[in-house]
Amino acid sequence: MAIRRKDWALPLEQHDSVAQLDGSPRRRFYAGGDIARVEAINDLRARTHKLMPRFVLEYLEGGAGEEATLARERECFAEWRVMPHTLVDEAHRDLTTSIIGKDAPLPLAVAPTGLNGVFMRGADTALAQGASRSGVPFIQSTMSNERMEDVARVPGLRHWWQLYVFGGEEIWQELVDRADACGCEALVLTTNSQIFGQREWDSRTRVEGQRPSWSTVFDAALHPRWLATTLNRGMPEFANVIEFVPKEHRGFFDSAFWIRGQMWRNLDWKTVAKIRDRWKKPFFVKGMLNLKDVERALDSDIDGIILGSHGGRQSDWAVAPLDILPRAREIVGDRKALYLTGGIRRGTDILKAKALGADVVLTGRATLYGLCAYGADGVHRAIETLKEEMLNELGQYGIPRLKALTRDLLVRTDDLPL
Ligand SMILES: Cc1cc2nc3c(=O)[nH]c(=O)nc-3n(C[C@H](O)[C@H](O)[C@H](O)COP(=O)(O)O)c2cc1C
Repeated sequence: MAIRRKDWALPLEQHDSVAQLDGSPRRRFYAGGDIARVEAINDLRARTHKLMPRFVLEYLEGGAGEEATLARERECFAEWRVMPHTLVDEAHRDLTTSIIGKDAPLPLAVAPTGLNGVFMRGADTALAQGASRSGVPFIQSTMSNERMEDVARVPGLRHWWQLYVFGGEEIWQELVDRADACGCEALVLTTNSQIFGQREWDSRTRVEGQRPSWSTVFDAALHPRWLATTLNRGMPEFANVIEFVPKEHRGFFDSAFWIRGQMWRNLDWKTVAKIRDRWKKPFFVKGMLNLKDVERALDSDIDGIILGSHGGRQSDWAVAPLDILPRAREIVGDRKALYLTGGIRRGTDILKAKALGADVVLTGRATLYGLCAYGADGVHRAIETLKEEMLNELGQYGIPRLKALTRDLLVRTDDLPL
């Protein structure tokens, strides 16, 4: 399966074509069933595009508006180049780090994503299993489709909870208490989605308001494998919050729209302080892209900031988190943890984010491609692929330890040394 070149941001597209002549044999990513043949996240993506129906792909891949933020999230990585060292001992390379004070094999966590039940039944558990096998945290979304208490049973899981604030006060309070009771080790408050982004390609596949169009239904019917693994017991439901939804709105689409309508438009630092009071473990705020907000966070008692644009799904024409990362790190110093989420598809992306000041990155689509392609094994494969790429590139850069990676290894393409 070939992914069309225009699917990638421009600089990567040019880079892609250097090894080919017009008329060269067409290159194809591997989209088959043998997971051992996966070379890169793109192979998992290609299989995802082969297996998933159109409306699922739109939900997974799409961004808001012109999809300018979505494109920027990839472009920004191409604007940084590496100046590798040579003649250093690269025999032993080490990616180990610490995530909220506990040892971790690499600086990565699986980002919260809602509605994973449209990819396959049991998807939240599968994401948790894949993350757990790799020894990294899995952040479960308020809009996930399996009860957090069930997901918490995955052996060895580092389980975090992502909170959306909607409806009455008792909803967030109950969710936070439940997350604590089932062993979640950190809480992530998402702050950039109180008004749902204008994802028009996603909407176009549901032309009849809250219902799928006939062509969408027809296309779904052409994907029997997806039907068998996803809708075999009916539509997924928002298992953690469905009891807060009035009975007459509990249908799949209806409940999603009802919850969307109940999001607090006035979510602010006062609410952050209230949540902080109730939740005693590590507490992160997710979705910041403005340096003034980063400065403001220093006056709060949160433990960390997650820079991100919700994978380009909320504001259009926004900067990418990587664009503001170096300055955000200067502002924050070592007073707060600073994480980044958005556009991670390669081990090199993680190394660049680390060099520019991120403590940890969160993967959204990269691990979802693994899920769609091969379930829990695919999630694990996605993380291990990124890890193998990081280990190799560390050697290429002549940097034996992740901890030794600093910004002076990188140079911006518009600021190359003469
Ligand atoms: C399908 C999908 C669903 C998402 N749902 C949520 C969510 O429920 N809560 C949340 O905080 N972020 C959500 N996000 C944003 C991710 O947590 C993450 O920040 C984003 O995917 C990062 O970009 P990437 O996909 O390029 O890695 C979602 C992203 C995707 C792609």
